[in-house]
Formats: sequence, structure tokens, C-alpha cells
Amino acid sequence: MLDESSIKPARKAFRARLTGQQGARRSVVTPMAIRLSRTFILRKLHQLSGIVPLGVFLLEHFYTNSKAVHPHTGPMDFNQAVADLQAIPYILLVETFGIFIPLLYHAFYGLVITFEWRPNNLAYPYPRNWFYTIQRITGIILFVFIAFHVLNFRFGVIPYLPTYGTPVAHNPANAYHIVAVEFAQTWVFIVYLIGITATVWHLANGIWLFLVDWGIAIGARAQRLTGYACIAVGLVLLAVGINAEAAFLHPGGIWGGFLY
Ligand code: HEM
Ligand code: HEM
Repeated sequence: MLDESSIKPARKAFRARLTGQQGARRSVVTPMAIRLSRTFILRKLHQLSGIVPLGVFLLEHFYTNSKAVHPHTGPMDFNQAVADLQAIPYILLVETFGIFIPLLYHAFYGLVITFEWRPNNLAYPYPRNWFYTIQRITGIILFVFIAFHVLNFRFGVIPYLPTYGTPVAHNPANAYHIVAVEFAQTWVFIVYLIGITATVWHLANGIWLFLVDWGIAIGARAQRLTGYACIAVGLVLLAVGINAEAAFLHPGGIWGGFLY
């Protein structure tokens, strides 16, 4: 006969699991298991939301912004693109469930992940360690930038800016003009340069992280080649994003419409 008091709690729980004693199982084993699997699901949802819908939204957004790049019809094309977006049926619901909720989830859970961060770059200065750190730094930059950008262009609620009370989204006929006046202020232009660069880095490195973490790029060679592909995607996106921004100051963007 075993003396119950001599068994340590963990072994007691293990034995309870084997013998099916419900009370012990509920109090010791199950909460741990639930906590682990919930964290796993939250983490996977965070990773997935970075690709779909956020990554896909960014591609669509850069496409819409690039409408401004045409040297002659750019302003009209951009205004029409904003009007078309705002004409989507149930637009507020589409935005709320398709963009805002996934964005809020990804952003806040991303901050939680960031606060668990233990930088070790100085002790182990490997590229992957730096990328890990930069992913978190760009996440924080994005948080501030996107809050500023959406409150400004989408809702027009940031005082002392030309968009105050006239959000771009609700004034499609003047959309290009409103953005152009805004970007003509040097500090705003620089904020957008930083925002675009941080977003592109975060997405390009994020795609690589996703492919590795979800077991799509397996093995050193595949991961290296995928890394090159992500750098290429990042460079193209950076050029497209900055060119679109420049098109609000200079017709045709950086290359003056050379590519048309
Ligand atoms: C708004 C503020 C944001 C914050 C605070 C944030 C934070 C983070 C953090 C901390 C990670 C690393 C997660 C990990 O290592 O497990 C991450 C991953 C990622 N983020 Fe963001 N992010 C933000 C916005 C965005 C946006 C706008 C996009 C898309 C354009 C995006 C796309 C991604 C992708 C694709 C990943 C990689 C997912 C993976 O680890 O497999 N994030 N984000
Ligand atoms: C040249 C740079 C950019 C320009 C001219 C621009 C322009 C705009 C405009 C005019 C709107 C509101 C109207 C609309 O819904 O179409 C908007 C919304 C938004 N932008 Fe940007 N944007 C730029 C860069 C970025 C970047 C780098 C991000 C990073 C993720 C971003 C994220 C968003 C989000 C999340 C919304 C709200 C989406 C919605 O309401 O449907 N934008 N942008």
C-alpha cells in the first residue's frame, strides 16, 4: 500500500492522470495544457494575419497609391481609385472585419510579443538575431505610423493638419490634392518615408519568417534562396512605395513618368 503524503505533487498529478482521478487532473494538468495550446493558436493567428489580410492589403494599397504615378492623369486616376474604394458596398464593415480587426489584433499581440523580447545581439551578433530585433523595432514604428496615418487620411481627426475635418477617404474628388498638400510639409514627407521603409522591411522579413515557421521553406538551401527572393520582393516594394509617395510632389514620381 502506498502512503499518499509521501508522493510529490507532480508525481501525484501524473498518477492521477493514469488512474483517471478527475479532480487532480483538472487542477494540475489541464490548465497547463490549455495555456500552451491557446498561446500556440494566438501565435499562429498572429503570423497568419501578417500575411492574410495585412500583407495582401498592403499590396492592394501600394497599387492604389501608384495610380498617382501617371505623369498626366495621375491625380485624376488616384481620385478615381479612392472613389472606387469608398463605393464598395458595406465599406465600413469590409474595412472593420477585413482590415481594422486583424490589424488591431496583429498590432496589440505584436506588442505583447515585443515586450517578451530579450535582445541578445551584442552577445550573439548573427544576422538572424538582428533581423529578429529589427522585426520588433519596425513593429513599434508601424504601430505609431499606422495610427497617425489612418486617423489622419481615413478619419481626418488629427488637429493642425490640412486633412483635419476633411479626410481623404470622404473627399475623393480632392484626394490627390489633400495628400499633396500634406506631403509638401517636409516632416510629413519624412514620416512617410520612414513608415514605408519600416512597413516594407517588416513585410519582407515577415514573409520569410512565415515561410520558415510554417514549414514551407525547409532546409538551409531553401531558406537561403527564399531569403534572396524576399530581399528582391522588398526592394521592388520599396521602390514602388517611395515612387508613389514622390508622385504627390512631382508628376510622374521619381523618374518623371519615364516608365510610362
Ligand atoms: C501595427 C503594428 C505592428 C506590430 C506591433 C507588429 C509586430 C510584429 C511582431 C512582433 C512580429 C514578430 C512575431 C514573431 O517573431 O513571432 C511580427 C511579424 C509579422 N508581421 Fe507584424 N506588426 C505590425 C504590423 C504589421 C503589418 C501592417 C504587416 C503587413 C503589412 C505585418 C506583417 C507581419 C508578418 C508577415 C509577420 C511575420 C509572421 C511570422 O512570424 O510568421 N505586421 N509583427
Ligand atoms: C505613399 C504612401 C501612402 C499613401 C499616399 C497612402 C494613402 C492612404 C489614403 C488616402 C488612405 C485613406 C483612404 C482610403 O481608404 O483609400 C489610406 C488608408 C490606409 N493606409 Fe495608407 N497610404 C500610404 C502608405 C501606407 C503605408 C506604408 C501603410 C502601412 C501599412 C498604410 C496603411 C493604411 C491603412 C491600414 C489604411 C486604412 C485602410 C482603410 O481605411 O481601408 N498606408 N492610405
